Amino acid sequence: MREAPIGVFDSGVGGLSVLGEIQRLLPNESLLYVADCGNIPYGEKTPEFIRERCSVMAGFFREQGAKALVLACNTATVAGVADLRRDFPDWPIVGMEPAVKPAAAATRSGVVGVLATTGTLQSAKFAALLDRFAADIKVITQPCPGLVELIETGDLHSAELRTLLQGYVAPLLAQNCDTIILGCTHYPFLKPLLRSMIADDVSLIDTGAAVARQLQRLLAERDLLAQRPSQPVKFWTSGDPQSLRKILPLLGQTASNVQNFDL
Ligand code: DGL
Repeated sequence: MREAPIGVFDSGVGGLSVLGEIQRLLPNESLLYVADCGNIPYGEKTPEFIRERCSVMAGFFREQGAKALVLACNTATVAGVADLRRDFPDWPIVGMEPAVKPAAAATRSGVVGVLATTGTLQSAKFAALLDRFAADIKVITQPCPGLVELIETGDLHSAELRTLLQGYVAPLLAQNCDTIILGCTHYPFLKPLLRSMIADDVSLIDTGAAVARQLQRLLAERDLLAQRPSQPVKFWTSGDPQSLRKILPLLGQTASNVQNFDL
């Protein structure tokens, strides 16, 4: 069981920002990745739809013999992680949510911005996160429709993307925000572009590394950490395998093994 793979999924390529952190921290682990590109963007879908997709992914990874599941997607986590934990109580499941707690601890100006999907920002889980950790700071939330679609085409720095992103970041900076939470797993791929738009003393916070550490803890507790070198990552997509193959190298992965996902 220790050498069994770990299932990781996102609505598309965003979760690769998390996959990369898992590979860095846990190089022995064999990883399976599903990009639900045929249903992107999750951020504009209903919670019921996303819960259904989460359940399809879980069923698929169980069939593949995965020893753990990572929801490498904030939007899927706020909608679906509670149901998955109820349905699979003995399976290590790692979800993720915007890094409000570390941002509240880090801000000096007392103003934090959150870039995330509409679905995440409108969720009850996000509201609870703010109640719990952000009572003493000002939080400006900024949905970012359109970013995910561009990133999915492999666009990380076109003029169109820059203009869109600038429009989302400017209101945060205008209100003296010194800490920006990247609350969607696609956005860490925009860090170089973002850095060119903001001052050096504005911090960008994301949760990919924390997710990898949490996965490590859950596996260690159950004596499930892999001991032997990993197998190459296997990828599936509900979109076009050929376009995923093209984008993977831009996002730090090799495009060897991409299959069609038709569930
Ligand atoms: N990458 C996802 C997230 O972390 C969602 C992107 C989308 O499909 O809207 O929220």
